[in-house]
Amino acid sequence: MATELNTKENLLPAIISHCKEYGFLFQSSEIYDGLSAVYDYGQWGVELKKNIRETWWKSMVYMNENIVGIDAAIFMHPTTWKASGHVDNFSDPMIDNLDSKKRYRVDHLIEGYVELLSKEDPQMTEKGNEILVKMESLLAADDFSGLKQLIVYNNMKCAVSGTCNWTDVRQFNLMFSTQLGSVAEDADTIYLRPETAQGIFVNFLNVQKTGRMKIPFGIAQVGKAFRNEIVARGFIFRMREFEQMEMQFFIRPGTQKQWYEHWKEARLKWHKDLFPNANYRFHDHLKLAHYADAACDIEYEFPMGFKEVEGIHSRTDFDLTQHQIYSKKKIQYFDNDLDENGKAYGNYTPYVVETSIGLDRAVLLSLCEAYQEEDLSTAEKQDSRVVLKLPNKIAPIKLGVLPLMKKDGLAEIARELMVDCREHFYCFYEEKDSIGKRYRRMDALGTPFCVTIDHQTKEDGTVTIRHRDSMAQERVAMKEVKDIVLRAVK
Ligand code: GAP
Repeated sequence: MATELNTKENLLPAIISHCKEYGFLFQSSEIYDGLSAVYDYGQWGVELKKNIRETWWKSMVYMNENIVGIDAAIFMHPTTWKASGHVDNFSDPMIDNLDSKKRYRVDHLIEGYVELLSKEDPQMTEKGNEILVKMESLLAADDFSGLKQLIVYNNMKCAVSGTCNWTDVRQFNLMFSTQLGSVAEDADTIYLRPETAQGIFVNFLNVQKTGRMKIPFGIAQVGKAFRNEIVARGFIFRMREFEQMEMQFFIRPGTQKQWYEHWKEARLKWHKDLFPNANYRFHDHLKLAHYADAACDIEYEFPMGFKEVEGIHSRTDFDLTQHQIYSKKKIQYFDNDLDENGKAYGNYTPYVVETSIGLDRAVLLSLCEAYQEEDLSTAEKQDSRVVLKLPNKIAPIKLGVLPLMKKDGLAEIARELMVDCREHFYCFYEEKDSIGKRYRRMDALGTPFCVTIDHQTKEDGTVTIRHRDSMAQERVAMKEVKDIVLRAVK
């Protein structure tokens, strides 16, 4: 009889418990019962995240001669957020239930209702879709009374109180604020950045001048961003503290369509290179953010359906113009290339196409694609394994070094191999438990190669190398292990 394995429906809960059990992710401040929608990366999660970050950085900064990186501070002058429009516009429509006092993001409340509707009665799926289409158009028109009507008309209830006793729909700003300096002094309200992009915009001239950058060129950055998400859902999908990998590409006005298409394709290719079998699609924005003239998401089919992993936005010259107005500093570029009439393009405010991916969402995507429960049962015995089939280059550990036993000098030989390999890639030494158990543990962490050192190693200098995905084992010279792994993890 086959072992019972998880289905797609309970894939997310299975991944969440796997992450906790194997040291990928923990709820923040768990000993105090946790902080909602905030997570800590454990010893293997931090490696996975770092490797994805490096893959992105390499593809942006090292592979493009006209893209450079920066690392701007999280705190920025408060006027930045006035200029960018975040103080006035960075909000979501919310509704409160008067009985439970629970606050909902309107789109989440409606989507949750529709999901339940079609789950309870599949014949209602069409009605659910109609509600979603209506919601999209009401959101696009900022029609808050229409949204409330939609909720009340369909008798959507609060999950806590079970009542339909709702306030009006109102906008709530998502930025966290704090005070600069001690409160007794001349305190000033500053914000934790809700996107990393503004650190790039305010440094446009610094980088352009010191790097002698010529348009078109890009500035890339990875860093923390903070949003006071009212309803945080889906594990690390929607967090209050998260990491973004953003690139602003500065271009000549009028070329934005061409560059928007270029970056859409380039970014989809990056995703597909990492996970060729994953399901992706583009989703064009109906309602554009205050800064954009075109925008779309790259969506991935998470266990909870197609959701955004990355946004590609044609941001016009909105941000640079706003910073020019608010700072009263000229933020322009002199383009001495010639147009078709042989005239220099001269001074202008560059347009921007941005690519913006959530690093934590990329981690979740990787876990969803990689997590597999395999039935290994034979006629004689029931067996299964959980394996993370991560691409080698993002796997936390590249090589497990496992002496068959501690004694007879095998541990010493294994340590020699560790010394040979560890400055080239992350190796993990383990001598406890049976070799079978150790292999399973390395599978669960996504380690692509394990090497076993046994008595034959002492005689002929060979070891057994085991491949994670096929579980195939072969005998190779120990001195070749480093190069075999290096070739495979590049
Ligand atoms: N600079 C543009 C910008 O910030 P966005 O669509 O709001 O655009 C970009 O965010 C990406 O950041 C999203 O595609 C998503 O991957 C990630 N992201 C946004 N909010 C998030 C949250 N609360 N938790 C985790 N990731 C988030």
